[in-house]
Amino acid sequence: MVAVAILAAGRGTRMKSSLPKVLHSVGGKSMVERVLDSLGAIDLSHTLVVVGFGKEQVQTSLAHLPGLTFVEQAQQLGTGHAVQQVIPHLEGFEGDLLVLNGDVPLLRPETLQKLVNTHQQNGNAVTLLTAQFDDPTGYGRVFCDDHNMITEIVEHRDCSPTQRQNRRINAGVYCFNWPKLMTVLPHLQADNDQQEYYLTDVVKDLQPAMAMDVKDCQEIFGINSRKHLAEAYGILQDRIKDQWMAAGVTLIDPDSITIDTTVHIEPDVVIEPQTHLRGNTVIGSGSRIGPGSMIEDSQIGANTTITFSVISDSTVQAGARVGPYAHLRGQADVGEGCRIGNFVELKKATLGPKTNVAHLSYLGDATLGSQVNVGAGTITANYDGYKKHPTVIGDRVKTGSNSVLVAPVTLGADTTVAAGSVVTKDTPEDCLVVARPPQKVYEGWRPRHLRESSSD
Ligand code: UD1
Ligand code: CA
Repeated sequence: MVAVAILAAGRGTRMKSSLPKVLHSVGGKSMVERVLDSLGAIDLSHTLVVVGFGKEQVQTSLAHLPGLTFVEQAQQLGTGHAVQQVIPHLEGFEGDLLVLNGDVPLLRPETLQKLVNTHQQNGNAVTLLTAQFDDPTGYGRVFCDDHNMITEIVEHRDCSPTQRQNRRINAGVYCFNWPKLMTVLPHLQADNDQQEYYLTDVVKDLQPAMAMDVKDCQEIFGINSRKHLAEAYGILQDRIKDQWMAAGVTLIDPDSITIDTTVHIEPDVVIEPQTHLRGNTVIGSGSRIGPGSMIEDSQIGANTTITFSVISDSTVQAGARVGPYAHLRGQADVGEGCRIGNFVELKKATLGPKTNVAHLSYLGDATLGSQVNVGAGTITANYDGYKKHPTVIGDRVKTGSNSVLVAPVTLGADTTVAAGSVVTKDTPEDCLVVARPPQKVYEGWRPRHLRESSSD
């Protein structure tokens, strides 16, 4: 049986933020949520999150995840003190307790699974994740014998100059035998430079205590500053891009592209430079996205092209072409084979198949049928200054350049709208609507100062 305690009560002073450190996001997800993700498939009896600084914010941000128990650490007196707070929740518990720092967001599920397996197979009292760092500054140093059995852990600030030479560091990831931990945890002392209760101090009183080096040092990177946050983002981006390239996606100039972990991309997609894919976005196979595009929380079908465009909360069906310089937002739904051209904005507009909006248009709160041709500069006037109103455009309608459709209005199928019209009334099917002042011609007209004056 395995329980987990995630330490997320600290403020993270070095972030210089009003937001608790563990809520800072790395690639679209908070650090603490990433830590929870890293638990993967481990079967957990308790998931305890120790909260303190900004506890309401932390609880609210994790409210969508089932099965969490929040444990309050009212004063942040150290990592050992934080784990002491879970004691009442684990009364009579006979299993192992995983302890994870909430600021270590890059752990892989395989690594934690291996830590638990190693711990259980060796019957350890504690197993600790460690790594050899070229620059171990700031981390606790782990001292071991020749068999990876730990003798003690000393915090960087409490190390003697000789002890600082040790490059083996504590990752802040532990698996404890809970009954054994309970023999020492309640008796921790705060006799160190920071006068804090260090969780690391329990290790010297627990046997057997084993260190397990992590293969990929990047996994245990702990975030203490905005600079670290940016570095973690870079590491995560490299991982995500490697994964998609291995899955058959072409990335042109990967360094200029960013992809959230929540995005899904099908094979044979080509992502061009300066493209950013965010949130719950899906890109269908064979599509070409970019250069210079941002797509957020949107579904893009197969074989589309999206060039220099911004798409959020929207859907683009297979074979559609979008851009350059189009903006789709607020549940725009572009049908199969549609063409959306330059300087077109679609908001809550649904387009049937093979409809074209090629230049300079705003369509908001609109429903268009199939094979509609929206002429250059056609605008839906959907807002009367108080309420939004719908526009409905039937199949095969053609609107002339610079027409204004004043909502609420419905154009019947096969309507042709003359250029420059201001359409305020519904039209029947199969008609021409001309709604503009008739042209007037004044033959031989001259400006006033050139006209012959009768008074001369
Ligand atoms: C800790 C370890 C250090 C290790 C490093 C790895 C101790 C004493 N030191 O140091 O050996 O190398 O992590 O990253 O454990 N927290 C609480 N309550 C508290 C204090 C901290 O919940 O009272 C939480 C923080 O929110 C954070 C985590 O514990 O998520 C680690 O705290 P932090 O202060 O960053 O510890 P380090 O000094 O980095
Ligand atoms: Ca830390």
